[in-house]
Formats: sequence, C-alpha cells, structure tokens
Amino acid sequence: MRKIVKQTYKSMITGLSYAVPKKILTNSDLESIVDTSDEWIRSRTGMVERHIGDETTATSDLATEAASKALKKAGIKAKDLDIIIVATVTGDTPFPATACYIQKNLGATKAAAFDISAACSGFLYGLTIADTFIANGAYKNILVIGAEMLSKITDYTDRTTCVLFGDGAGAAVVQPSDGTRGIVHTYIHSDGRLTDLLIMPGGGSRKPATHETIDQHLHYIKMEGPEVFKAAVKAMGDAAVEALKSAGIKSSQLALLIPHQANIRIIQATARRIKLPYEKVFVNVDKYGNTSAASIPIALTEAVEQGRLQRDDYCLLVSFGGGFTTGAVLLKI
Ligand code: UT7
Repeated sequence: MRKIVKQTYKSMITGLSYAVPKKILTNSDLESIVDTSDEWIRSRTGMVERHIGDETTATSDLATEAASKALKKAGIKAKDLDIIIVATVTGDTPFPATACYIQKNLGATKAAAFDISAACSGFLYGLTIADTFIANGAYKNILVIGAEMLSKITDYTDRTTCVLFGDGAGAAVVQPSDGTRGIVHTYIHSDGRLTDLLIMPGGGSRKPATHETIDQHLHYIKMEGPEVFKAAVKAMGDAAVEALKSAGIKSSQLALLIPHQANIRIIQATARRIKLPYEKVFVNVDKYGNTSAASIPIALTEAVEQGRLQRDDYCLLVSFGGGFTTGAVLLKI
C-alpha cells in the first residue's frame, strides 16, 4: 500500500461535466422484466430510476459529450490536451482504448490517450494518475473521464444484478493548481483476493467468446451481492478514514462526502464510520443507479451545480469496485 502525502496542492480540477442517455428505466419498468418490486429496490438499494443508452450508443459517445462540456468549462481547447485517461470496464471495443476514440471525436491531436481498468474506483485512480503527472511536471492539461454503459453487460434475466446498474459518463479537466486549492491527498488500494466477487467472466483470454460462453451468460456482470456489500462497507470506511488521517483533516472539516453511488445503505455506513452527518453526504443513486466509474464525476458535477460546494470547501471522494479496488481523493474546492 502506497501513501502519497502532499505538502502543497499540485493540481486542481478546472472543468467538470457529465452526460447520461435520455432513456430512463424505472423500478416499475423493471417489475415487468423480472420478478422484483419497486419497494424491494428502493428499500434495499435506494434506487428509483437509471438512464439506459440505446443500441447505437457506445461509451465513447457519452464520454465525448461529457468531455466537450468539461473542456468548455475549463476554457481550454481539445488540441491543447496532453493526456486523456478513461476509466471504464465497458469500452467501445476490447482494443483500441476508448480514450483513443474520444481523442478522435474531440480532435485532441497532441494527446496521449489510454484506458484504465479499476471498475467503480476508476475515476479516482485516474485523478491520482493525473495529479502525479502534473506534480512531477510532465504534463499540464489532462482529461480524466469515468464512463460506462453497464446496460450492455447487464443480464436482464438476473434480478439480483439488473436492477442496480445504469449508464453515464463524467469528465474532469485537471491542470496545475493555483497554489491555494486542488487535490489535497490521494489514496488507492486493491485487494486481488476478492476478484471473483464481482466479475464479467467471459470475453477475455480466460474464457474467450464462444457459443457456449454466450449460452451460459458469461458476458454479463456476475456478483456475489451480500459479500460485495460487506467488503464495500469496510473498504469505503477504511479509505475515508485513511484519506482524512493522512491529510490531517477531521471529518468535521468536510463540507461534503461524495461516495461511489452503489447502494444507499453502503453510503450511509460510510458516513457513520467517519461520524459525518447525513446532510453532508451527496446522494444521487436514486436517479442514476450504479454507473460504476461514472458515478463520482457525475455526483461531483451535480454537487457543484447545486451549490453544495463552495470555494475552499473540503470534499472527500470515496469509491470501491470490482477487483477489489478502493480509492479516496480529498479535494479543496
Ligand atoms: O459498484 C459495486 C457494485 N456492487 C455493489 O455495490 C452491490 C453490493 N451489494 C448490494 O448492494 C446488495 O447485496 C444487493 C442490493 C445486491 C442485494 O441486497 P441484499 O440485502 O444483500 O439482498 P440479498 O442478496 O441477501 O437477497 C435477499 C432476498 C433474497 O431472497 P431470499 O433468498 O431471502 O428468499 C433474494 O433472492 O432478496 C431477493 N432478491 C430480490 N428480490 C426482489 C434479490 N434481488 C432481488 C430483486 N427483487 N431485485
């Protein structure tokens, strides 16, 4: 486990945005697809609806829309980007990287572009990489995107998973800090012992696509829900505590906690672990479901747009995801 304790702010987010597909899938829509109920989904997850893309939409389409708006807000041109980092487990194609499709769409001709695979923690892994590139002076203009179309790998015959996931993309432009605010601290960790709890088994080198893998539904998300739940509560709490401790910040100094939006009960447990009143927790899991790597940048954008964050506020971002991956990023807004 590597800790990075920062003395000064090196990088900051200068533009943020998100995009979601227009189509909404509600809990009552799901009642007609699988044996479930609005009451079960709301009480066990906090979800009410989620946005789902159509057959022609790919992850890079949503990501390009989010990225274009984020660039505009940052006031920079795509051609000035040095790096495009895309966190996704639902790329347009296994290769090339989805980041390269987005580069083409944006016309970011100067950039290097690559994807990272850290599931729901991907955006925080991306911010950590961007912060490090900027801190060492290598690059100045970095686009970090979390984008997913989980509907494309969701098994709509499996009620234990299909009610949970939605599509979306969030993008952040990361640039050198003005010296007074920015990324205060980053923490990333993984526990590879838990790889089997949350997995898409088919389509890789272990089980390449065959008629048999398709018949067995191996190209869909498989999850041991209750086990993931327990691991997530611990991992999210540990990451939040670690980030605050390493940065020397008390939870009472936080203006807002933005946790990965996977389940309202996991979010509540994380807030309780750091003794944070619920009014200081950002929740939009009711509107979008779990959008994996997109969940935190979508929530961060909405928090800013809703005036829940003001200049100089401390905001803690915390995530967990398949792998098992964990991340925490403390921001001074
Ligand atoms: O980004 C990371 C991704 N994953 C997560 O964060 C998920 C973490 N896990 C969870 O959020 C929860 O475990 C779930 C929401 C997935 C499930 O909630 P749970 O309280 O752990 O329920 P459970 O799996 O223990 O199932 C309880 C009952 C079972 O029925 P029996 O065996 O008690 O008769 C399930 O078959 O609920 C049943 N069930 C459902 N009932 C109606 C499971 N899914 C559904 C459903 N509708 N959609």
